Amino acid sequence: MSTLKKKSKIYSVMSQKGGVGKTTLAINLAVQSTLQGNKALIIDIDPQASATTWGDIRDSNAKYPLVISSFAARLSNVIQAAQQNNINEIFIDTPPHSQRDAQIAAEISDKIVIPCRPNLFDLHAIDNTIGLAQIAGKPFVIVFNAIHHTSSLSIEAKEAISNKYKDNIDICPYMIVQRLCYVHAITSGQGVQEYEPKGKAMLEIGHVYKYINKHEDK
Ligand SMILES: Nc1ncnc2c1ncn2[C@@H]1O[C@H](COP(=O)(O)OP(=O)(O)O)[C@@H](O)[C@H]1O
Ligand SMILES: [Mg+2]
Repeated sequence: MSTLKKKSKIYSVMSQKGGVGKTTLAINLAVQSTLQGNKALIIDIDPQASATTWGDIRDSNAKYPLVISSFAARLSNVIQAAQQNNINEIFIDTPPHSQRDAQIAAEISDKIVIPCRPNLFDLHAIDNTIGLAQIAGKPFVIVFNAIHHTSSLSIEAKEAISNKYKDNIDICPYMIVQRLCYVHAITSGQGVQEYEPKGKAMLEIGHVYKYINKHEDK
């Protein structure tokens, strides 16, 4: 048991608000990670277990990403076991309302991914999540989700955050558009990459994944 295993990269997808796209992003980033050749794992610490349900309906031939549900308090044990089994990328899907669970996940992560819809309520909600990331001393990146092509809201939201946090904020330059295929893919136990290969959603998730990954060692 003493063999040293390579440490996994651990991302928490986090927001204190429900419905912003945490589960959607965790799933699609984990599928993307798998497509890039990683052994990816989703750890679902949300009692609503949406990511776990996705894993349950997923084609059993698709070995990765693995999906496991866990109490936040067990995260370090689960991660240790995963690393011993050569899992090299981990995406933690977190619940919206438990500050404590979010804290535990933040502390164990290398990076925190904060999805945000471009509206006033979600913009307010990210302050809390950014605070959590800062207290944990972890890098974080805001990813705008479910934006409308035809609206300038996402540009305004981006400006509002940039003005507020100045240079102390990392906003992913690639945004995720509101697309029905995100809903359909999850309902089919798939990532958008599998549901609509070569589709626009696959491209944008690929960009977001690359951005998050590239900035890993910042
Ligand atoms: N980019 C998107 N386009 C269309 N629907 C989306 C998108 N992102 C999320 N959704 C839908 O919004 C709802 C909430 O997303 P979800 O990922 O479950 O949020 P959270 O995990 O933060 O509660 C789900 O029905 C999901 O399918
Ligand atoms: Mg969720």
